[in-house]
Amino acid sequence: MGKDIGYFELNTGAKIPSVGLGTWQADPGHVGNAVEIAIKHGYRHIDCAQLYGNEAEIGVALKKLFKDGVVKREDLFITSKLWNTDHAPEDVPLAFERTLRDLQLDYVDLYLIHWPVRMKKGSKEFEQPDIPSTWRAMEALYDSGKAQAIGVSNFSSKKLADLLEIARVPPAVDQVECHPMWQQKKLREFCKSKGVHLSGYSPLGSPGTPWLKSDVLKHPVLTMVAEKLGKTPAQVALRWGLQMGHSVLPKSTNEKRIKENFDVFDWSIPDELFTKFSEIPQTRLIRGTNFVHETKGPYKTLEELWDGEI
Ligand code: A2P
Repeated sequence: MGKDIGYFELNTGAKIPSVGLGTWQADPGHVGNAVEIAIKHGYRHIDCAQLYGNEAEIGVALKKLFKDGVVKREDLFITSKLWNTDHAPEDVPLAFERTLRDLQLDYVDLYLIHWPVRMKKGSKEFEQPDIPSTWRAMEALYDSGKAQAIGVSNFSSKKLADLLEIARVPPAVDQVECHPMWQQKKLREFCKSKGVHLSGYSPLGSPGTPWLKSDVLKHPVLTMVAEKLGKTPAQVALRWGLQMGHSVLPKSTNEKRIKENFDVFDWSIPDELFTKFSEIPQTRLIRGTNFVHETKGPYKTLEELWDGEI
């Protein structure tokens, strides 16, 4: 295993930088600054979504970085995601154009269906997802060149397999929760066999999200490895992800931590320590409970939402 894992290759032939800045829960007023710090420090990949409510501020930061000659558009990898209320094929290009407008970009490098969940516009009511029809609209964006790759997020192995059956343009990425306490063993193997890149969100276990009660960074394997290697538990969690072969999307709006999270390239976790991660008990943190209802909507249980991968 080489030490330097700067990027992975997608099934489109494009390169996805292995560490991307996450922007979920990056508050307006802070996210633009975080993007600027990250890019100046060497990040080339920013993970966005319309739902996060901060794409316009990211757009302003990107525009300034281009204008100041800090980075060129073609050297960045920008992802965004289609929200649940925009699954209707006629809504897909509208939502996509809104994202392009907010980000002040002509194209994104990757556009994802955010969840396999469809909701009525302007309400929290569920509708039956029709992924094939949504995917046709995603393929049209790909054909237009404005989405240079398309993919999904929060899809189980089963839902990804169903999509692969009907896709003319196969998904390039499945972006899912992934960290040492939720390693996605089954999905990882499936993605590998199909040439779909797995991208890991919440790679630190989202420690700042109170309702998750995450203790990934406090897990004894992480703290032990961190101490042995003279790194922080966060760096160890990220490096573990890279060595597993997936890209990682740590969110931070703090300069010190943004830099810390990028210092994962010139060292590695040796085999005898790496094997310890396979002993860690597994728990999904982001369960999608909001998308499950006993009587309303297509998913009555978490088992159904995740097809048993829970
Ligand atoms: P902050 O933005 O104040 O740095 P995840 O990417 O898994 O969702 O985790 C994001 C959370 O982890 C945020 O609360 C973020 O807070 C915090 N965080 C980011 N980087 C680090 C780090 N290196 N060490 C500890 N906490 C971190």
